Amino acid sequence: MSLIYKFPKLYDWVVEDMLNHPDMKDFYDNVFYDMLQLDKLQEGSLVLDLACGTGLVGLDIAERRPDVHVVGLDISDSVLEQARHYVHERQLKNIVFVKKDIFALTSENISEVCGIKDNRALFDMIVCSHGYTAMKNYEVVFEHTLSLLRKNGCYIIMDIYFPERSLKTRLANKLIAQKLFGADQFRKPWLLLKDRFIDFKMPETHVKYFSISNMLYVARGVNQQEN
Ligand SMILES: C[S@@+](CC[C@H](N)C(=O)[O-])C[C@H]1O[C@@H](n2cnc3c(N)ncnc32)[C@H](O)[C@@H]1O
Repeated sequence: MSLIYKFPKLYDWVVEDMLNHPDMKDFYDNVFYDMLQLDKLQEGSLVLDLACGTGLVGLDIAERRPDVHVVGLDISDSVLEQARHYVHERQLKNIVFVKKDIFALTSENISEVCGIKDNRALFDMIVCSHGYTAMKNYEVVFEHTLSLLRKNGCYIIMDIYFPERSLKTRLANKLIAQKLFGADQFRKPWLLLKDRFIDFKMPETHVKYFSISNMLYVARGVNQQEN
């Protein structure tokens, strides 16, 4: 695991700094939340914030939709500790943070792990923000999560991608993304959704951060597989 996840306050400080960039902020406030389509979730829906880190996305969803259940899942104790601190600070009652490797969450144990009464529960929405670039085996992870999403449930992947293979982006990918965040920003995780889901949408935005061109994207698709 990359060092930065052991220092969640530092992680949040770096992320906050990025989020304060005007293009980033605009992307989050407008494009990203628009794509989540939170108004379409039914009361009691179950949402998974996969590789939730300190809970940035899951906490916002829980706050915006107090009538849905949100589960943040991550393998790192330290980021989850920080996430739970925010739950307390924001006085949220509809979100839980669970320490688990995603492979340990199965359709058989969702209710138990998430504290839900319905023992046939599956997720209505899975969101993965900056998670797939940080997982080496992201294709296998994606395949596994398909068994956790109900038919017609939606899947959202949000991340940063380096569109150019210049010397600068190669160095940034190696020295910042990989070393600091364990991430590879030359990956294209959205292709997983594009190939397998219907109603695929992917608005993107370009932002210059540290004078490097980044592509911020959010991809959304609807699951057609019966589980
Ligand atoms: C870059 S952080 C993203 C955090 C958060 N989603 C955000 O947008 O700020 C990537 C996270 O993936 C988690 N992670 C990596 N592999 C995982 C796995 N197999 N199961 C669950 N979480 C995992 C790491 O612990 C880390 O917190």
